[in-house]
Amino acid sequence: MKKPIIYITRKIPDEILAPYQDSLDFRMWEEEDIPVPRNVLLQEVKEADGVLCLLTENMDRELFENAPQLKVVANMAVGYDNIDLEAARERNVIVTNTPDVLTETTADLAFSLLTATSRRVVEANDYIRAGKWNHWSPYLMAGSDIHGKKVGIVGMGRIGESIARRANGFGMPIMYHNRSRKPSAENDLGATYMDFDELLREADFVVSVIPLTTETRKLFNEDAFEKMKTSAIFINVSRGGVVDEKALYHALNENTIHAAGLDVFEEEPIDADHPLVKLDNVVCLPHIGSASVETRTKMLHLCMDNLLAVFSGEGPITPVNNP
Ligand code: GLV
Repeated sequence: MKKPIIYITRKIPDEILAPYQDSLDFRMWEEEDIPVPRNVLLQEVKEADGVLCLLTENMDRELFENAPQLKVVANMAVGYDNIDLEAARERNVIVTNTPDVLTETTADLAFSLLTATSRRVVEANDYIRAGKWNHWSPYLMAGSDIHGKKVGIVGMGRIGESIARRANGFGMPIMYHNRSRKPSAENDLGATYMDFDELLREADFVVSVIPLTTETRKLFNEDAFEKMKTSAIFINVSRGGVVDEKALYHALNENTIHAAGLDVFEEEPIDADHPLVKLDNVVCLPHIGSASVETRTKMLHLCMDNLLAVFSGEGPITPVNNP
């Protein structure tokens, strides 16, 4: 029988493909660091039965309309705002993501970013590299404490709960805001539910783990930053689109809030000239929440397993839609 054709939008290691090669016929964009150009992707999907894509690909209506054979899109991310789910549903295309395998790794990074931002770790490292460390002094690179401070988690999903577990270890009171109450977070982690505005007013650290949707786009806007404490530290590990970056820049520059740690941006990648990169009270990372070798490997395997499960008739393992 003819094997299903799978188009992979970035070069991935041969060892990942090898176990699946008897069942799936792979075609791949052969660059590791450069996304597939749109015209190439549009051409390749014409024959593809399945696609393994990254969050750099805009899987929009035009793309689905160009893909008459397409049965499944396996997105190598837990977030799927890069995919038009409605267009996929209309064409009966299954979409899968990579939840669970990245939860702990992303929570590790969120906490690293929180500690690095509040204790000025990157700034302090740059200080030595610039040859500026001449003396020890009482307030040299003095930052803000973490232990005992209130963390406000916006978006209490799996990653939010993992961040809360780490916060418990640091002795931080936990507050959260979510579409629905989470009894598990309240009972097991001692988290207190708050409405969004109350959380903004109360939290010392506001951590965004909320997915990007039409409702959450630019949720963190001028109004939200105004409500935060002037000592507040804002951490974003979800999607840049949930932030109005001009308002954030203004809030940081005018000391409306104290500092920010950002793993994600409205338009990625950003370069060294981005206004937020220029501020000393901001730590910027290149969207590396799930970037441990172990976890990225698990994410690729989960994508492959989803593709195989769809074509073997078992049905997807981690679907985000049900066409
Ligand atoms: C990364 O941002 C993801 O959604 O997995």
